[in-house]
Parts: sequence; structure tokens; C-alpha cells
Amino acid sequence: MTAFPCKPASLAALALLAGAAIAPAGAQSAATEGRKLAFDRGKGNCLTCHVIKGGDLPGTIGPELKDIKARYPDRDELFAIIFDETKRNPQTMMPPFGRNRILTEQEINAIVDFLQTL
Ligand code: HEC
Repeated sequence: MTAFPCKPASLAALALLAGAAIAPAGAQSAATEGRKLAFDRGKGNCLTCHVIKGGDLPGTIGPELKDIKARYPDRDELFAIIFDETKRNPQTMMPPFGRNRILTEQEINAIVDFLQTL
């Protein structure tokens, strides 16, 4: 087999391909951005009410955000919760981040990407 003359490089290329297959290009950085937004006290501020792995000083007004991908495989549903949870629960304490323009749709999408890593 001489198709791959330089073995370490071809292994690296394979690793990249494998990585790309698992996480589509861009999804990783969107999730990183979403994590920042979620933890930012001036933006998502999700930690005020939710325990999230890796977040400091969380509040417990809302449920811990975990196993999200398993519990909400449909990202539209997650988007809707963050956009305006009052649609599901008119009594909720959770601010309607989208309706009140606290977060843009793009920012909510990034947070959804992050939540799906939990
Ligand atoms: C002021 C408190 C508050 C803030 C801030 C808040 N939430 Fe919530 N959240 C809640 C409460 C309370 C619930 C429980 C469901 C309800 O009230 O309808 C909830 C429910 C959820 C759920 C559904 C959880 C489940 O287990 O089914 C998700 C997902 C969620 N919040 C995400 C977020 C994200 C992401 C942010 C930040 C952008 C955020 N929340 C900010 C209070 C809050």
C-alpha cells in the first residue's frame, strides 16, 4: 500500500474526516459560542435559574439542564422554549428571550447547539 506515502499525515486526515462526520463543520464553534451566551450574565443568564455542567454559582428556580439531547431530540422544540416559554407555560418564570429580543434567533440557535451537547 503506497497510496498514503506519509502515514502520520494520512492518519491526521482520517481523524479530521472522522471528526467532521460526528460534528458537522461549524456546529462545534456554534456550541462554544452558545455556551458563552448561556453563561453570560448580561445575555442568556441561564445560570441564574438553571444548574448547567461547568457553570459557576447556578440558581435552582428552573430544573437542571442535563440529558437535553436525549429529552429534546427536536431542536425546534428547544428553540421554542428559549424563544418564548410562556407559550408552553403562561406562568413560567423563564423570560421569553426571543420575543423580548434579549437574544437574536442566531444566538438562540447557538444556545440550542450548546444545550444539545449536555
Ligand atoms: C428567571 C429564571 C430562568 C432563566 C433566566 C432561564 N430559565 Fe429556563 N426555565 C426556567 C423555569 C422555571 C423552567 C421550568 C419550566 C417552566 O417554567 O415552564 C425552565 C425550563 C427550561 C427548559 C426546559 C427544561 C426541561 O428540563 O424540560 C430549558 C431547555 C430551559 N429552561 C433553557 C433555558 C436557557 C437556555 C436559558 C438561558 C438562555 C434559560 N432557560 C433561562 C427558568 C429560567
